[in-house]
Amino acid sequence: MHGFAHRSWTRSRSVPSDHFDGRPVIGICNTWSELTPCNSHFRDLAQHVREGILEAGGVPMEFPVISPGETLTRPTAMFLRNLASMDVEETLRANPIDGVVLLMGCDKTTPALLMGAASVNLPTIGVSGGPMLNGTWRGQHLGISDVWTMGDRYRVGELNDGDVAEIESGLNRSHGVCNIMGTASTMAFMVEALGVSLPENGAIPAVDARRNLLGRMSGRRIVEMVKEDLALHKILTSAAFENAIRVNAALGGSTNAVIHLTALARRVGVNLTLDDWDRLGSSVPTLVNVQPSGTYHMQDFHEAGGLPPILRDLCENGLLHGDAITATGRTIWELSKDAKRWNSDVIRTVADPFKHNSGIAVLRGNLCPDGAVIKPSAASPHLLKHTGKAVVFESQADLQNRLADPDLEIDADSVMVLKGCGPRGFPGMPELGNMPIPRKLLQQGVKDIVRISDCRMSGTAFGAVVLHISPEAAIGGTLALVEEGDLIALDVPARTLDLLVSDVELARRRARWEGSHEAPSETRGFAKLYREHVNQAHEGADFDFLVGSTGSKVPAGQH
Ligand code: FES
Repeated sequence: MHGFAHRSWTRSRSVPSDHFDGRPVIGICNTWSELTPCNSHFRDLAQHVREGILEAGGVPMEFPVISPGETLTRPTAMFLRNLASMDVEETLRANPIDGVVLLMGCDKTTPALLMGAASVNLPTIGVSGGPMLNGTWRGQHLGISDVWTMGDRYRVGELNDGDVAEIESGLNRSHGVCNIMGTASTMAFMVEALGVSLPENGAIPAVDARRNLLGRMSGRRIVEMVKEDLALHKILTSAAFENAIRVNAALGGSTNAVIHLTALARRVGVNLTLDDWDRLGSSVPTLVNVQPSGTYHMQDFHEAGGLPPILRDLCENGLLHGDAITATGRTIWELSKDAKRWNSDVIRTVADPFKHNSGIAVLRGNLCPDGAVIKPSAASPHLLKHTGKAVVFESQADLQNRLADPDLEIDADSVMVLKGCGPRGFPGMPELGNMPIPRKLLQQGVKDIVRISDCRMSGTAFGAVVLHISPEAAIGGTLALVEEGDLIALDVPARTLDLLVSDVELARRRARWEGSHEAPSETRGFAKLYREHVNQAHEGADFDFLVGSTGSKVPAGQH
């Protein structure tokens, strides 16, 4: 009689009796949602995963979790990342699941699912949704990064409403994630580099039949992983994270990867610090000529060979732990040693790289004692060492109000400063770091300017943009004390960011700030939980009570 009622309920879905003979139950964790257009094909993809699970002798159990989509979620999808990870963790632990396939796509769905699964530590395999096709407009290919340049051209009158309407319909031509090396594709490649997926997970376009095949083969493989007891923590080792950091550098990947991988590492007990990004990544040149650092798009990258030839090249140059184990049960080197690249303009080599400056530079100084980041490959080289006068925006609203002001005192040498957008000041740390360049500067032909803030930046964006300043302004970081006209010195080669104001003056300003500042707070709901428990950016902006893992055992309950 044991389990009689539970089997009966389950059989209401026409599950045959032989499915209760002890075969593995495999969860398919699905982030499908019409509110997340990038993941809108996941019901189909899940069917292919399901077929693979059945073929291998497992029992598929698909379940939904929160899907924080980048395009529509406000104030920012990042606000829901930790909540989605809690959804994943608690659902996995609360149900009789032996292994799980994570269906991930739009930016935050990937770290959310990985973080939740990492805190449970079942056998886990990732299947990403794949990038959308290249955008097209009047015979040219477009990527999502063109949104920024096209927006600037519209603001100075080079494009009209009709042009914009045409671009709008040609930019996103299929389902899938943004078609450049933005955060979503970066994170899909992180999944592949960490070894959590089958090879080629990151680059196969969403609409390509091989994406569905990847799902099917992943369904087969997870059943074997359960039998082999290949749990997630055996893959997510410190070697895997070091590989991921170096792959991110080679890809010219998103700065958001820093926050997400830091949070993930802390879930599995790997001691990954901000300085590891610089220590490991700065020796790796950028190999990929894809927007936003380059010119091509994800479809081109896939056709050129995708990630495997890059893994091979990095391994052959001693830049990866080739013996890191993957979800396949084989090592990174075994999987990539025969990989070929088919277009040497899209995928370059360590010997002949696309850009020598790469990775994520980690800055320190009195403005960011706990660190800040900048992506040198996406910045204008002449601004990597720059001192300029601060033009200060106290909040997002202040930025919006004053940006178009023709009397705004700003020139090409200024440093734009935005406060109040860190994890606690603006729950979710919005992607406002690449502040729009004021129109009057655009009209002068200025294309880049130094910008610093405690917020994040879209992986599709570019520029001399310093992000993730920690501690943030809302908790009294030095950023809070910057005043209009202060000199700020950025020196990326020396890895420093300093406010050139005396300690005596800073102490005076701090006393004033503490006397007048009211800590941001909420009265109820998730926002209250968020503000009270979110860690700083250099710690991954996870909730303090979610760091670590507690396994899959249910401590107590009704049986
Ligand atoms: Fe979803 Fe870019 S908006 S991946």
